[in-house]
This record gives sequence, C-alpha cells and structure tokens, in this order.
Amino acid sequence: MTEQPGQGQTLDNLLTESRTFPPSAEFAAQANATEAMYDQAATDREAFWAEQAGQLRWDTQWDQVLDWSDAPYAKWFVGGRLNVAVNCVDRHVDAGNGDRVAIHWEGEPGDGRTITYAELQREVAKTANALTSLGLKAGDRVAIYLPMLPEAIFSMLACARLGLTHSVVFGGFSAEALRSRIDDAEAKLVITADGQYRRGKPAPLKAAVDEAVARTPSIEKVLVVRRTGIDVEWTDERDVWWHDLVDGQSDTHTAEAFDAEHPLFILYTSGTTGRPKGILHTSGGFLTQTAYTVRNVFDLKPESDVYWCTADIGWVTGHSYIVYGPLANGATQVVYEGTPNTPHEGRHWEIVQKYGVTIYYTAPTLIRTFMKWGNDIPAKFDLSSLRVLGSVGEPINPEAWVWYRETIGSGRTPVVDTWWQTETGAIMISPLPGVTHAKPGSAQRPLPGISAKVVDDKGNEVGKGGGGYLVLDQPWPSMLRGIWGDDQRYRETYWSRFGEQGYYFAGDGAKYDADGDVWLLGRVDDVMNVSGHRISTTEVESALVSHPTVAEAAVVGATDPTTGQGIVAFVILRGGVAEDEAKGEAAIKALRDHVAKEIGPIAKPRQIMVVPELPKTRSGKIMRRLLRDVAENREIGDVTTLADSSVMDLISSGLKGSG
Ligand code: WT7
Repeated sequence: MTEQPGQGQTLDNLLTESRTFPPSAEFAAQANATEAMYDQAATDREAFWAEQAGQLRWDTQWDQVLDWSDAPYAKWFVGGRLNVAVNCVDRHVDAGNGDRVAIHWEGEPGDGRTITYAELQREVAKTANALTSLGLKAGDRVAIYLPMLPEAIFSMLACARLGLTHSVVFGGFSAEALRSRIDDAEAKLVITADGQYRRGKPAPLKAAVDEAVARTPSIEKVLVVRRTGIDVEWTDERDVWWHDLVDGQSDTHTAEAFDAEHPLFILYTSGTTGRPKGILHTSGGFLTQTAYTVRNVFDLKPESDVYWCTADIGWVTGHSYIVYGPLANGATQVVYEGTPNTPHEGRHWEIVQKYGVTIYYTAPTLIRTFMKWGNDIPAKFDLSSLRVLGSVGEPINPEAWVWYRETIGSGRTPVVDTWWQTETGAIMISPLPGVTHAKPGSAQRPLPGISAKVVDDKGNEVGKGGGGYLVLDQPWPSMLRGIWGDDQRYRETYWSRFGEQGYYFAGDGAKYDADGDVWLLGRVDDVMNVSGHRISTTEVESALVSHPTVAEAAVVGATDPTTGQGIVAFVILRGGVAEDEAKGEAAIKALRDHVAKEIGPIAKPRQIMVVPELPKTRSGKIMRRLLRDVAENREIGDVTTLADSSVMDLISSGLKGSG
C-alpha cells in the first residue's frame, strides 16, 4: 500500500485509486475515536452500544439492550424510557451550557438569528404548549412542510417532546407529494410557511398546502409561519398563524418520558415502485446512534467546534445530522436557509469564514458543482477554521474527494465518506478521522458496533478483491422499524433477498479491495452488464470526471442487441472548455479512450453526449431512468420529481441541435 499525499499526483479513477491519506499525529492525538473501539465493539457489541446509550439521559434504565426475537423488527434498550427533546435541549441547559449557541441561523436574504440552548429550550416549550393547545396527543402524526427555518427545528423537537410522530416533507415537493404523505400517515396537523426564498425570490408554499389539504381528510389545523410576507389564502376555522398561537405560550414545559421504541418520525423515500415508503424510526436507538456517529465520525467537540451540515431537514441527513445527532451532543451549528449560489457562488465559503465553521458535511454533487465553479471562488475566503470534511449521498469519485481535501481542506483535513441510508437512520460505513488511513472513493469500514458484508447472489461473503451486494448482517440501534402501515413491503424490500441468512439487503453494489476495505458501487439497479462484465455506472462516471475537460458525468446502461447493455454517457464540460471543440469527434474519441485507459476497453462508452445540465432530483440524485429514455430513444418518462423539470427539454433539444 502506497502512502503519499495527494498533491501533484495524477487523478485516478475508482479502480486504480491507491493513494491513502493517514491522519496527522496532531489530529490523531486529540480524536474522540480510537482504533481500540473496533475491538471493544467486536468483543461485546451489546455492551458497546449500551455504553453509547449510557451517554444519554434516561428516565428509566433499560433492562435488555437488544431484543431481536421478533426479527426483522428490532427493539433496542427494552424497557428504557427517555425524552428525545430533553436530551437534545434541556440536558445541556441543566449542565450549565444554556448560553452556548445551538444554532447560528443564516437566512438566504442575509438576515440571521443566533439561538442559544436556553432560548432553544424556551422556543421548544412554547411550540410544545401550542401543539398541546391544538389538541394533539402522543402518537398523533404531524406533517412539517417548511423551509430551513428555526421553526422547522422547534417543530420537530416539540413533536419529539410530546411523543408526536413527525413526518417532514421536503419544501420542494409538490402539493400532490405532500397530499399522499399526509394521507398515508393520517396526519392531523401540518406546519408550513406562507412562502420560501428560492434563489433570492419569495415563492409560495402555503398554496401547495391548501391544495393538498383540500384533498385529504385527516388534517384539522394548518399552522403557518410568516417568512416572506407574500399573500396567502386563509381558511379561518382551519389556519392559524404561528406568531398568533406560539408566541404567546408559556416558555416552560414539563416533559414526559416515552418508551425507547416510541415512534419518533416517519420519513418517505422512493423505492422501486412509484409509491414512496414511509420509513419509521423510533427514539432510544435512533438517538444513540446519531449521537455516537456525530462524536466519532465528525470528531465533534461541543465546546469548540462549529458544525455545519448543508442538507435540508426534508431529508434524513437533516433529521440525523442537523437536528438529532448534533443537538444530542450540545453542538453549535450553522443552519442555512438558501441555495449555495445565492447571491453568489462563494456563499458557503463566506458562511464558513463568518462563523469559523470547523466541521462541514455535504454531498458529492455539490462538491463537483463547486469544482465546476472554479478554485478562485473558495480562494477568496478564509477556510482555515475547517478541520473535518464529510461527504454523503452517493459514491464520491476520487477526483472530487481529492479536490475537496486540497481546495476546501487546505490539503490538511480528514475527509469522511459516510455510507448510510434513510433506512439505516445513521452512518454505518465510514472512515474514522484520526484513526483511518483514508482512501479517496472508499467508505472503507463498518463503524465500531456495525456489521456489514459484501456477499454474492447466494448470500456468501466474497473474498478480498471480490464484488457483490452490500448487506447488514446484524441489527443496529438506528435501524428502521418498518414501513409505515406496510409490513409486507418491509419484509419484501429488505429481508427477502437474503431471507435465508436473515440479512438486510441495502440495494447497493459493493466490493472489497485487497485490504478488505469496502467500496460502494452505486445502487444495484445502476450496475450495468456489458458482455457479461459487471460495470458500475459510478466507475465510468469517475473515469470521465477524472478527465480535465469534464465537470460532471452520468452514465446509464442502454439495451444493446450484442452486448446486453451498452454504456451511454452524458457529460457536462468544465467552464472554459469551448463547446464546439469539445463536442467534436476528436474530443469525444479522446474521452472514450480515456475511459478505456482508466478502467479497460470493456468500459468504453458506446456513446458520449455533451449536455448543458443533468436531470437531478431535489436531493441531488441523478435520475438515470430519464437518461436511459434518451439513450434508448424512448419518450421521456415522468419528470415530476426533478428539481428542475425543464432540464430534459434542454438536454433533448441540445442533442437534436448537435445532430
Ligand atoms: C443511498 C441512500 C444517507 C443520506 C443521504 C441519502 C447512496 C449514500 C453514500 C456513500 C456511496 C452512498 C447509496 C444508498 N449513498 N451515501 N457515502 N457512498 N453511496 O439517503 O436517499 O436514503 O439514499 O444513497 O446508494 O443506498 P437515501
């Protein structure tokens, strides 16, 4: 194994990547996580998790760590009782940290609000009192359809405090998406805002709620935060302004403890069918693992760090790594309302500089966008406060990983590539900063206390260098407790493929390298089969973006009469590359040859199309299904989940234009 710093190296692709980045002695010396934790957890997994849970405040101690007798439904910390919101807020005030900043909230138009733990306690109490006044009782479901406002966090914590189960619906989703989620969970209340800022302009939000609620029977009240001041329609007996109801409530509230398995939230995620799945998470185990991972994967020191996770609370990353995990640790964090290029492309770096952000957690798609915007943008800001960088959401190509470390992390910060899912609730596979010799592009090793394997079709573990499916072979504290109202779908989706072994099937392809480290290869539905060779779309994309002219690439397997599938690539060029030149035959040939060189001739794309944009969901995932439609000359399918539905027109017309 070579150990060399990344600087000045040729940027390589996933398969040939061999650089490693050992932690610095200084970082290792102060790190929360230690190598010994792996052994400790392996010796007695349950004792390890009991120790982690013990860092929370429990009203009643559990009498059994894990009950797996009703598999695939786990019970963790059986008999234990706690209040999640008390753990995230009151506990820190009681410990004398009421004056510590919990949230530096940064609004898109440049307004802001600093909220200490003591203030957060008062805001959550007022919100909880308001929800009680509306007649809500433990076990009821509440839909939250809000932009990234402090009130979104107050609402989630107030629900947790009262034992209400929240269902946060991303503010970019349509009225119909909101309606189906409200219906599925039979929510009684929806909390929303008049409007939200989007790229500098106020856009309506409540209007979508009005439309959704008109077609759903369960909603009794709509609680509305005034954010933009835009006009809204009003239904007197149903709609309530936040400032009318919440502001006047008492700012103290006595919390009740709930069972460790009390439902905390439902979060909808898409599956292979059209109907989204309501992933159910409960209290004690979820909080234990989110808190544990914030301490160890991000190395959080609550007294000195300023943490920033750039996700939206509409996604699981926002639940686990903006709300519950950081607050359970008493972190000081930045919460940003807007988009990364409003009003300028340096907005994130300006925020890092302003608050002295030390831990920054984002997604590869954004990292590649930053690369596309150019190095001169982050260079204008002081990023020296950063000490840990994180990535989540998709495999990160080594090119982007190294750029992230070099350009944002000054070639000094550990980068943690964290693999997990909505279903896992918290990080599962990741390097530990201060311990792991990081390899760009690999999530590397299951965390202490977590067990994962790469298995073949029959469920047998593959050897070093082998590839197959990622499974989780032991229950974990923050695992999903089912799909809301659909036991059969839960069993079929996750537990039937390797039912004999009782493994959880994650839906991801993965492989072990020669050291036994795990490399995620994308969803198994994105793995192509070309002439009997299995090739990951990610591998080809990674090879393409390692070419100096390519900013971003998406690859799909298109049906091919000879090879089964043929590789079709869509590429966005880097700024400064002349379009005509790069679309020319010679340039395309150079790209195909580059892929052949990086991976092998079998991975050479059949076709490469230069496009201005890629179709992405609002969470930044490339919708390969739509690209497959283009590649296979079909009519383009349903585009309603795209962040920008005009992208497909842009792509199609551009391709027609280029012949
Ligand atoms: C899927 C889960 C986890 C929060 C955001 C996404 C992919 C996620 C990684 C990573 C490779 C990753 C997987 C997974 N994924 N993180 N570090 N490396 N792939 O949550 O929407 O539930 O998606 O995202 O394919 O199955 P999600």
